[in-house]
Order: sequence, then structure tokens, then C-alpha cells
Amino acid sequence: MINMVNDNGFSTGFGVFTLSRWSRTNTPNEQNLRAWDAADELLLEHLAEVGVPESAKVLILNDQCGALATALVMAQGASGSVQCATDSFLSTQAAQKNVTANGGDLTRVTWLNSLDQAQGPIDLLLIKLPKNLSLLEDQLYRYRDHITPNTKIMAAGMVKHMAAGVFTLFESILGATKTSLAKKKARLIFCQPDPTQWQAATALKTQYLLENTNYQIIIYPNVFSRESLDIGTRFFLQHFPKKVDAEKIADIGCGNGVLGLVAAGKYPEATIDFYDESYMAVACAEENFTRAWPDRAASFRVDDGMSSATPGSYQLIVCNPPFHQHNVVGDFVALQMFRDAKLALQQGGEFWLVGNRHLGYKEHIKHLFGNCMVVASNQKFVVLKAIKR
Ligand SMILES: C[S@@+](CC[C@H](N)C(=O)[O-])C[C@H]1O[C@@H](n2cnc3c(N)ncnc32)[C@H](O)[C@@H]1O
Repeated sequence: MINMVNDNGFSTGFGVFTLSRWSRTNTPNEQNLRAWDAADELLLEHLAEVGVPESAKVLILNDQCGALATALVMAQGASGSVQCATDSFLSTQAAQKNVTANGGDLTRVTWLNSLDQAQGPIDLLLIKLPKNLSLLEDQLYRYRDHITPNTKIMAAGMVKHMAAGVFTLFESILGATKTSLAKKKARLIFCQPDPTQWQAATALKTQYLLENTNYQIIIYPNVFSRESLDIGTRFFLQHFPKKVDAEKIADIGCGNGVLGLVAAGKYPEATIDFYDESYMAVACAEENFTRAWPDRAASFRVDDGMSSATPGSYQLIVCNPPFHQHNVVGDFVALQMFRDAKLALQQGGEFWLVGNRHLGYKEHIKHLFGNCMVVASNQKFVVLKAIKR
């Protein structure tokens, strides 16, 4: 079931809006969170002061739950346009629901994912600073062709999440950059683009050869563990399931797709389905898989957990679950994935995962599946297996 949690009034210079987080997890922890932060408030306060021309062509990046999109859609005249680009499926869902819930016309917004190009020229570029600097770098290069010296560029973030290299990135890719005073622990960044100084874009994909295989793993900018194989993933691969009779396998929270890729090698007859909420992760898994296995059946799905999976359809599901959703740390996403996995497995199907020992996944899985075996453990990680009875 999909729940809109935390309905709250969000007061801005463009009106008061009711915003919610879009969440299937329904945990008290997440319900106590608002669907916007002080950085959204500060950015909209500044925009209301300086004014947004009715005909402005606006591009919004990384709007987490649609606070910016909702306000801008309501502020815009018919001659203006709003484009929203994000790497997160969850953010897109939340933004669309919030725009609609506040009476905005969804068709007034062009919804882009992080790999899409935007329509230019852009008059106003609004950026919620992402956690990952390489995503920001990709975005500044990706949309630079639509930026002119007249484009107003404003970024907003919470001081505690602002990476040290943010200012340098804006300066080196776009032009002179300055910052506002902090307010409620949020800060704005203003950038004056100067195309005469722009240097060629640098390549942002990284790669490594997966140990003990011939698989060259490419990693896109916003994808987990960009420089090398994650140590938890490595431990999982050392204890990977071998004896399951599997025709259909899922890799949930696939990142660059390394678990599904190894599963394809161990189960030559199986179809592999890859799921992630990051558009870049899913595209990255697809590139890695199709290069290694050009003729194998597989699907690549942007999803929240495996919410779109047919119940009872898999014999094996593998997972290295996330311990945060965007900036919110907690086990709520992992627990939702466990519930999805149970639903998606056939009777007798197996769920295998790796996790940090201290996260206590074993008890949750035992409670959910009625069984949970420790396949392997070391000082840091544990590989667990549960069977759907
Ligand atoms: C710890 S990483 C594991 C990546 C990869 N399986 C590996 O072992 O290298 C967890 C992955 O879960 C994804 N994720 C986070 N929240 C998700 C959600 N709600 N639904 C699906 N995937 C999600 C993240 O984008 C990330 O790629």
C-alpha cells in the first residue's frame, strides 16, 4: 500500500502548500520527517524576494519531494515552463503527487531523469545540492549547453550536507560563485556563468575489473561504490548462492549490477531482473550486463524496492541493502525490500543478502520469513539466507 505520510503546511512567498513524503515504509521514524527542509525554504524565500518572471524557463535539479516544483508551478504564468530532473524514482513520484495534491497541472512540468537532456535555453537553474558531488559535476556539465550568461543559477543545501568541493565545482565548471549567510543551517550558492572561460568536460564514469572475473565494471556518477568493489559486496560474492535451482533471479538495489552479473555467470539458464530507485544505477547495471552477456534475457527496472514484481515469481533474490534513503539514515528501506522480496519469491525460493553485523537484519528476516540462516560472517559483515515457506 502506498501512504502519503506527514501532511504539513509548507509556507512560502508563493503560497502555502501541503507537502508529503511519498513512502511505502510507513515507519514512525520516517513519518516524523517533513517533505522539505530549510534549504527549500531559503531558496523560495529568496526567489519570492527577487521575483520569478512569469515567462521564465526554469530547470529544477534534485528536488527531493517536490517542494520547489510545487511552488514554481503555482508561480509560473502560462508562457513559462518548468523542467524537473532527478536521479531518484522516489523523488519523482513524490514531486508529481505533491504538485497534483496542491492543484498544480502535472502536464506543465517536463519530468526528466538524470540521464535525459533538458530543453534550453534556461532562464533560471535551481539546484538542490545532492549528497554526491560527482552527480552535481555530471549535472553541471550535462545542462551547461542550455546555460547562457543571462541564466540565473542558484543552489541550496543544508550546511551539514554540503561537500567541501561544491564551490570549486561551480567555479571551475560554470563561473564566479558566491554564497549567502547561513540561515536555519541552510545556505544558498549563486553562480554567474561565464561561457568564455569554460573548459572541456571531464569523463565522470569510473571503472574496475571485477576480481576473479573478466567483467569490466563501469560505474556512473551517482552509483554506489564508484572507485572499487564494496567490501560488503566482496564478502557476499565469496559466499554467493550456488545450489539453488533458479530460472528467475532478482538483484534488488542493484547499483552497478555486480550481484546480478555474478548470478548470471553461476546460473547460465536464468533470467536476471535488476531493480534500483536510481536511474543511473539501472542504466549502469544494464550497460555492465549487456556488455558481459549480450544475448542473455534480463530486465532493468527503476522501482521502489521491487514494488512492480509479480508476486511468487522468483526462485532467488540477492541484495546488498541500503542503510539510507537520500539523506535519511535508517533501516526502513532495507526492511521494505525484505517485505518486497518475500512477496516476490515462489514457495521454496531463497532470499540472500549481505549486511553490516550491527544492523541486526537477522532478527527482522527471521520474524518475516520464519527462518534465517547465517551463511557466513566476519567482524564486519554477515551473509544471510531465508527460505520462503
Ligand atoms: C548498498 S547499495 C548496493 C549496490 C550493489 N548491489 C552493490 O552491492 O554494489 C544499495 C542500492 O540500493 C539502492 N536503493 C536505495 N533505495 C532504494 C529503493 N527504495 N528501492 C530500490 N533501490 C534502492 C541504491 O540506489 C543503491 O544502488
